[in-house]
Amino acid sequence: MSTAPAVVAVIGGGRMGAGIAQSYATAGSAVTVVENAAAAAAAALDRVAKGLKRAAERDRLTEPADRILARVHTVASPDALPAETDLVVEAVPEDPALKARVLAAAEAAVHETAVLASNTSSLSVTELAAGLSRPGRFLGMHFFNPVPASELVEIVVAPDTDPATVRSALAWTHCLGKKDVVVKDSPGFASSRLGLALGLEAIRMVEEGVAAPEAIDDAMRLGYKHPMGPLRLTDLVGLDVRLAIAEHLHAALGERFAPPRLLREKVARGELGRKTGRGFYRWP
Ligand SMILES: NC(=O)c1ccc[n+]([C@@H]2O[C@H](COP(=O)([O-])OP(=O)(O)OC[C@H]3O[C@@H](n4cnc5c(N)ncnc54)[C@H](O)[C@@H]3O)[C@@H](O)[C@H]2O)c1
Repeated sequence: MSTAPAVVAVIGGGRMGAGIAQSYATAGSAVTVVENAAAAAAAALDRVAKGLKRAAERDRLTEPADRILARVHTVASPDALPAETDLVVEAVPEDPALKARVLAAAEAAVHETAVLASNTSSLSVTELAAGLSRPGRFLGMHFFNPVPASELVEIVVAPDTDPATVRSALAWTHCLGKKDVVVKDSPGFASSRLGLALGLEAIRMVEEGVAAPEAIDDAMRLGYKHPMGPLRLTDLVGLDVRLAIAEHLHAALGERFAPPRLLREKVARGELGRKTGRGFYRWP
């Protein structure tokens, strides 16, 4: 397995950022998490601590959780990142202006050899690179939820990304025990684009009365060995999240990603999936 980067920064310690911080700290890195409010910083550390506790209960740690947690610190701004940071992973909400702002601030704070990565699931890595002074050191590292347990990082390469940056990102994926897929920057990359295509078609099938959600999901689960059917997965991801990505890909790639009427109606009714208790299934 490759060696972990000595010093990692994660901007945004939410669902994804905390998982990324936990993963690198477990691999031996010193991790700085950027959260701009004190309460959010405490919540981020709490997420990392809970994730480590779960990992310890499952016997997945090779050293005490407390010692790993001691390698994680928070700061209030990317300006305060250690200059010797090897890898910066940005994981703030999916807002291009916000991402551009924090990435530029991080770039100014760290040495010019650092690699900067965005965990965006749908924004253009090429457009994010345009706001940086060293676009060659930037790429997408698209982690999956829940990060500590997921097996994959999608490495998204923009036209200006240097080959050395890709090599570092690959090594720093493998050091977590994860596998990579390398894709050219394009709307939805490989994972979101294919996953969404299947999800939208499944929703259209419900809309047309072809079959019940359970039957559609079983067709993929039992017939094609998917771990979970596309409608159940949509419930877990959130119908609102899937609608936002569909709108983005519809604009970028055309009619085949047009959001189905049923998806819009369910989102308007607040049936967002597991988080609201109802989507294509009921979640008591
Ligand atoms: N949730 C998923 O399944 C998933 C999967 C892959 C990629 N992503 C991507 O990861 C990114 C983060 O998603 P998430 O689900 O973790 O969101 P989240 O809302 O759980 O976390 C975002 C965090 O960023 C913090 N934040 C906001 N503004 C900030 C600022 N100016 N400086 C520092 N921190 C700030 C928030 O306090 C919050 O803790 C998004 O780009 C999303 O598209 C999400």
